[in-house]
Amino acid sequence: MMAAYQISEVVKEKSGVVRLTLTDFRNYASLRLEPEICPIIITGENGSGKTNILEAISFLTPGRGLRSAKMADIKRLTPAVVGTGYVESKNFSWAVSADIIKNSEEYTLATAAQKNAKENDDEWHTFERRIVQIDGQKVSTQAELGKYLSAIWVTPQMDRIFLGGPQPRRSFLDRIVYTFDLEHAKRTSTFEHLYKEWYRLIKNGVKDNAWLLSLEEQMAAIGVSIAAARREIIARLNTFIEKEPDDVFPNLKLELDGKIEQMLDTHPAIDVEDYYLNSLYQSRKNILQNDSIEGVNRTDFKVYFKKKNMPAELCSTGEQKSLLVSIILAQTKCQILDKGFTPVLLLDEVTTHLDDIKRDALLEKIRDLNLQAFITSTDRNAFKILKNDAEFFEVKNNSVIKR
Ligand SMILES: Nc1ncnc2c1ncn2[C@@H]1O[C@H](COP(=O)(O)OP(=O)(O)OP(=O)(O)O)[C@@H](O)[C@H]1O
Ligand SMILES: [Mg+2]
Repeated sequence: MMAAYQISEVVKEKSGVVRLTLTDFRNYASLRLEPEICPIIITGENGSGKTNILEAISFLTPGRGLRSAKMADIKRLTPAVVGTGYVESKNFSWAVSADIIKNSEEYTLATAAQKNAKENDDEWHTFERRIVQIDGQKVSTQAELGKYLSAIWVTPQMDRIFLGGPQPRRSFLDRIVYTFDLEHAKRTSTFEHLYKEWYRLIKNGVKDNAWLLSLEEQMAAIGVSIAAARREIIARLNTFIEKEPDDVFPNLKLELDGKIEQMLDTHPAIDVEDYYLNSLYQSRKNILQNDSIEGVNRTDFKVYFKKKNMPAELCSTGEQKSLLVSIILAQTKCQILDKGFTPVLLLDEVTTHLDDIKRDALLEKIRDLNLQAFITSTDRNAFKILKNDAEFFEVKNNSVIKR
């Protein structure tokens, strides 16, 4: 079965970004970076532009990037000539382009915001849309990017992922599933779209039974495939993790807490789909009073510190960070074995909350994975252990210097 030592045999060539260009992206008017495929340490003061570089790379994969940003926030704002506020620089949209290597082949990926206008209520509204090019050819869906580059990220916002409501955990879960199953993003976004439409109709008192039923049928079918995909990937990760050493990054157990996922343990998919359809139909009447409808858009992702049998939410801050790192490492290794190419890791302030031993252990693990990892920090001294293995960049005055 899968074991960590097989990874070097599976990966013939490392994959990653070898040239990155940003144009009018956040604080950068223009930036060019030529990283090697190895750990890349990006240091600089608060607000210097470290996270923005990671965010730019995350836009070379499908979705809204590692900050889930609004399109309008990404374009570079420049200080107004008059007044104290910031104004948009006119005529420009932002762009990110990169040469990447995947299994010895080189590709150029590019993404940019394109201005569009549409008429609504007799008025013209402008909006921005993210367009994608692969090797100079415009492609119709962002999902295409997933075939070339895979990115796995950890952000400071995720430090609190085990606390609070399930929504961020569910997104994290679906992002994990997505890295193995490129169709998953389409499933979840279609489901969301159908759900919103269904909710809107009920809320507006539209009593079109055929329309509602058609939405419910589609939701039940897609919902069951979402639940099945989540179950498959989580089972795979659990099996993989069991064989991993239980070291400073603890072994953990992953669980799905959702009615539809749990029903699939004991019932054939077709029966679960019937159940789901019926439950959506039944909830038409109470949806407006009670938002707690069961279903795949309510599923929670539970994580346990295995040796202590402790739910993640009751673990200490540093333990929670270690659990998060354990998940990411398992995901990375499983994905390498699955796809035969290395993902790019985007680790924003990943060493925060880790003690010195854990920090060094993490950096060594990243080095041994032999992949490209962009790691940000305000403290260059924290990376001494990688001084011969990493490339060091410093961000200052909206540009990046190799140190
Ligand atoms: N659209 C934009 N236009 C211009 N500047 C922006 C835009 N969006 C964000 N910024 C600025 O970019 C700067 C760098 O942000 P970034 O989050 O990359 O900093 P950082 O180096 O990661 O800082 P920290 O160490 O605090 O995390 C910030 O000062 C932020 O206000
Ligand atoms: Mg930052």
